Amino acid sequence: MSDNQGRADEDVQEVRLQKVLADAGIGSRRHCEELIGEGRVTVDGKKVFRFGERVDPRRAVIHVDGRRVETRAEMRYYMINKPRGVVSTMADERGRKSLADYVEVPERLFHVGRLDTDTEGLILLTNDGELSHRLMHPSFGVDKTYLAEIHGPIPRDLGRRLRRGVELDDGFAQADGFRIFDQVGRRVLVEITLHEGRKHIVRRLLKEVGFPVQQLARVQFGPVKLGQLKPGGMRTLTVREVGELYKAVGL
Ligand code: URA
Repeated sequence: MSDNQGRADEDVQEVRLQKVLADAGIGSRRHCEELIGEGRVTVDGKKVFRFGERVDPRRAVIHVDGRRVETRAEMRYYMINKPRGVVSTMADERGRKSLADYVEVPERLFHVGRLDTDTEGLILLTNDGELSHRLMHPSFGVDKTYLAEIHGPIPRDLGRRLRRGVELDDGFAQADGFRIFDQVGRRVLVEITLHEGRKHIVRRLLKEVGFPVQQLARVQFGPVKLGQLKPGGMRTLTVREVGELYKAVGL
């Protein structure tokens, strides 16, 4: 055995599967034993039925009901509701308010993509480089949903035009989903979903069809919804939300 292998083996710290699941926030050990007994847990792709199974939480790939469970203790997953006027970086050399002004935890985190300074809404923050990379990479085409305020009245076929797509300066763009969310007088709030992340894409798309955006907010990133989180608020993602994000990018 080489020196390197020897060190790697010494480093392995195996723990009972039900404890690993409980520590990851799945539920009590008892509940985790039930999940194992019901055949709902896989380790490295194989179904496990034995309670005594030991795994290394830093290396094992564990799924419950097909959703990945993050078991590396140092991994962090949050969402923030970026307020309007705040830049989407962790620091700003020009002294403007940045995400760092709202992050309440000491860990070093990456923001998963950006929003315009004028846009508010959901930004994911994590120290999981692989997940973050995949969520941003166009080949995974993760959906993002926005609420945009525009001036009505709007034609009946606007959704069809946006879904069919339009030609922008830097190429073709189209919406995957579109609906009227709310309407008060001429103020129309529309919900629009896209699976791409080019700069100012929603503003450019709506302007191209004749409806410049007055206000914009991102309300969903892949399977994760902003919900009732107030602008400036931050919260930890649930185990389920993290599992769904993994699933959305094939992990
Ligand atoms: N599209 C935009 O136009 N702006 C954003 O901030 C995000 C998507």
